[in-house]
Amino acid sequence: MAEEESLARPFYTVLILAFVCSALVAGAAVGLRPRQEANRDIDRQKNILYAAGLYDPAKSIPEMFAPIETRVVELATGEFVPEEIIRPENYRQLKAALSEDMGRALNKEEDLARVRRQEKYSLVYLVKNGEEIQQIVLPVRGKGLWSTMYAYVALDGDLATIRGVSFYQHGETPGLGGEVENPRWQGEWRGKKVYNEQGGFSLKFAKGEAATTEPAKSYEIDGLSGATLTTKGVDNLMEFWFGDHGFKPLFARLKNSKPSKG
Ligand SMILES: Cc1cc2nc3c(=O)[nH]c(=O)nc-3n(C[C@H](O)[C@H](O)[C@H](O)COP(=O)(O)O)c2cc1C
Repeated sequence: MAEEESLARPFYTVLILAFVCSALVAGAAVGLRPRQEANRDIDRQKNILYAAGLYDPAKSIPEMFAPIETRVVELATGEFVPEEIIRPENYRQLKAALSEDMGRALNKEEDLARVRRQEKYSLVYLVKNGEEIQQIVLPVRGKGLWSTMYAYVALDGDLATIRGVSFYQHGETPGLGGEVENPRWQGEWRGKKVYNEQGGFSLKFAKGEAATTEPAKSYEIDGLSGATLTTKGVDNLMEFWFGDHGFKPLFARLKNSKPSKG
């Protein structure tokens, strides 16, 4: 009898230990979730500030982000959606793209960025001076060679000139396509024109070095060396998000609502 008990004891010890450990791991996962989400939010804010050229490592990110207005826009119409209908802080854009009512499947001709599904509503971030929009920061994404690349693009108040870009997530090869995250290359985007005078998409990625003389200089960015396919992906995603299925209806609406100067 005593022998049976001593044989069963290690079994029960292991069982209790496994139970306690799994409870600890599950508790930690649940308990840390709010902190993970808060960190994700801070990281998103940092990337938006970086694209807008407003990031200063010496300052607090929430403080720098506080004056930026977050809005939800209906992509098809370019209309801002009232907060009572979609609250920007609760809106999960990538989840929306996958849902039946908040997203839609893109057909092959439409899907230049190769995202397959697109959300009907997008978050946009406005940097304002009073009522005047100084910059508008837009979330974009699209397929490179190996992965979907995610970025924010900051556009000047003229709604044509790039203020900055921040590629913050991708799975391209480090040193090749992974150079999308190189600050030197991202710095080259500043001042380039997405649209020409006629309003057509004009941004170009050179094979190698971009033009150094006008007018091509205003529209061209260096292609990433040894990463033609990633560069093509960046070109395509920019054309998609700055086209009719992306933010173009929003820009048209903002231009119409702008009080004319002079
Ligand atoms: C291991 C490996 C990783 C690669 N990673 C990339 C990449 O991330 N992006 C890319 O465009 N090309 C990548 N390539 C190169 C492509 O296969 C292709 O050769 C290249 O895009 C052609 O660009 P180029 O004309 O500038 O050489 C990779 C190739 C190898 C062998």
